[in-house]
Amino acid sequence: MRYSFVSKSPEDTLEFGIRLGKNLGPGDVVCLEGELGAGKTVLTIGIAEGLGIKTGVTSPTFTIINEYPGEIPLYHIDLYRLEDGDEFYYMGGEDLMYGQGVSVIEWASRAEGILPEDCLWISIKRLDESEDFRLIELQVTEKHRDLLERVSKSENTGY
Ligand SMILES: Nc1ncnc2c1ncn2[C@@H]1O[C@H](COP(=O)(O)OP(=O)(O)OP(=O)(O)O)[C@@H](O)[C@H]1O
Ligand SMILES: [Mg+2]
Repeated sequence: MRYSFVSKSPEDTLEFGIRLGKNLGPGDVVCLEGELGAGKTVLTIGIAEGLGIKTGVTSPTFTIINEYPGEIPLYHIDLYRLEDGDEFYYMGGEDLMYGQGVSVIEWASRAEGILPEDCLWISIKRLDESEDFRLIELQVTEKHRDLLERVSKSENTGY
């Protein structure tokens, strides 16, 4: 099942992240794909806000895993610097993903072999029309059918 829309600004992407974050629960794993500067971290900041996390999400250069405490904790993971899933595995990646928080993973395909089955996949692609336009596609399994319906019901950005 998929939903896609065109984000026309960082604010659109943030707003989508907030909507998504409000609908995520313990154990959900959000896998983000998209080139450098696509907007993966912007989306993650929105998800954190939707989860009600107060600490500001940043993207420090040398950190692979950032934990943000909250009612549902957020694990913000950036696998850009990893070759494959092994290193993430040895860092305890599986324990995080199968734990009680929400995991959001940038460059998730680097860990393809160890990702859970019911990940939510989000791809962000630049569009030619404008510097700020992004095609955002969310793909989910049956488990997240209701979430997809709720997230896709938006008056402004969805089409
Ligand atoms: N529609 C949009 N959605 C998200 N970000 C946008 C959009 N238009 C412009 N931007 C800008 O693009 C940049 C996205 O940066 P961000 O750090 O989120 O990218 P990233 O995908 O996390 O990159 P990296 O792979 O380096 O971590 C920001 O400077 C943001 O302001
Ligand atoms: Mg990033």
